[in-house]
Amino acid sequence: MSESGLSHIPRLEDLPSVSGRRVLVRADLNVPLRATDGGGFEISDDFRLRASMPTLSWLVEHGAHVTVCSHLGRPKGKVDPRYSMAPVRERMATLVPSVEVMENLRFDPGEEANDPRFVRRLVEGFDFYVNDAFGACHRSHASIVGPPYLLPSAAGRLLEREVKALSRLLIYPERPFVAVIGGAKVEDKLGVLVSLSEKVDRLLLGGAMCFTFLAALGHDVGESPVDSAFLAEAQALLLAHPQIELPTDLVALQTDEAIGVDRSSSETVRDFGTDLLPGWRGVDIGLATRISFGESIQNARTVLWNGPMGVFEDPRFDEGTRSVAEAVASSPAFSVVGGGETAAALNKFHLEDRVDHVSSGGGATLELIEKGDLPGLVALREGATLEHCPASS
Ligand code: 3PG
Repeated sequence: MSESGLSHIPRLEDLPSVSGRRVLVRADLNVPLRATDGGGFEISDDFRLRASMPTLSWLVEHGAHVTVCSHLGRPKGKVDPRYSMAPVRERMATLVPSVEVMENLRFDPGEEANDPRFVRRLVEGFDFYVNDAFGACHRSHASIVGPPYLLPSAAGRLLEREVKALSRLLIYPERPFVAVIGGAKVEDKLGVLVSLSEKVDRLLLGGAMCFTFLAALGHDVGESPVDSAFLAEAQALLLAHPQIELPTDLVALQTDEAIGVDRSSSETVRDFGTDLLPGWRGVDIGLATRISFGESIQNARTVLWNGPMGVFEDPRFDEGTRSVAEAVASSPAFSVVGGGETAAALNKFHLEDRVDHVSSGGGATLELIEKGDLPGLVALREGATLEHCPASS
């Protein structure tokens, strides 16, 4: 991430007076929904709605007429009642009544295609644009990258806070800088692992992903998932970066036992070193690894954590993720936690208030770390250099 990438992004205070003007806010209101008995949907976690409040309240308090727009789910360019913004609109009305909520942007194919005609329709009648959708800033979609070229624009409070926290981590981290990366797919995280290896003092790997790395070193991983297309790259990364640490012991489950069914017995769950027997699948990091990862985190001055260490939804296998969460929470380091599952793990252990920053973005956080910039930030920066036509009155 370049220093200049983060400065030069206009803030709300950089907009001309918003009093009496119409402001379009792009937020990430992509919240999880669950079906209700009545056949509708309700919000199961309103974290992202609450996260957009500082920006919306600021604009309302400064006299703006505010309309907020967002995507919800992946309806693929078609109107689909399962992804209607109605439940979001209903909840927003209780949080900030004067704000209008547009229908799902992704009901129109122009959004994902970044169609300039869609951008023009979207901004019609608005005086200013505010991007507060950090979680969607890695998407080159119309509502993210289009409006800053047409309207005077600014980053909202959430976007500003996210970028500030991640830049503290990546531009001038206090050392030792320790990253803890878990999760399932090597494919999704290889780019960020390469980039982090250059920046951190220790990179602790856990979660399902670590089996590809263990297999790349010739360990027997039993029935654990291995991304065979990435074995060579995993091996090259380990050879080039001795600061990457893999688990030294594992908790494994006999594979005929369903995850989530508590039939725990000494025959079906057991501890191994780094080699598993056939018929066993790794589901968590072991005790020695928990202690060693915990010590590294305790001694760090900067910590980034993304991805659970095991199948933490099953209480038998949540020890690894819990111990990392507790170490991050009690470490004196500046700590940033990113990714929906990781945030859910922190919530499960009631530790969300004990870290410095919980990012609202999953893919966006990883892409910002990997590439150092995001399409949404580029658009805001470039838009700020343009002479916009005077806003309508
Ligand atoms: C997210 O939930 O990570 C963001 O809202 C982006 O959603 P998307 O992956 O469907 O673009």
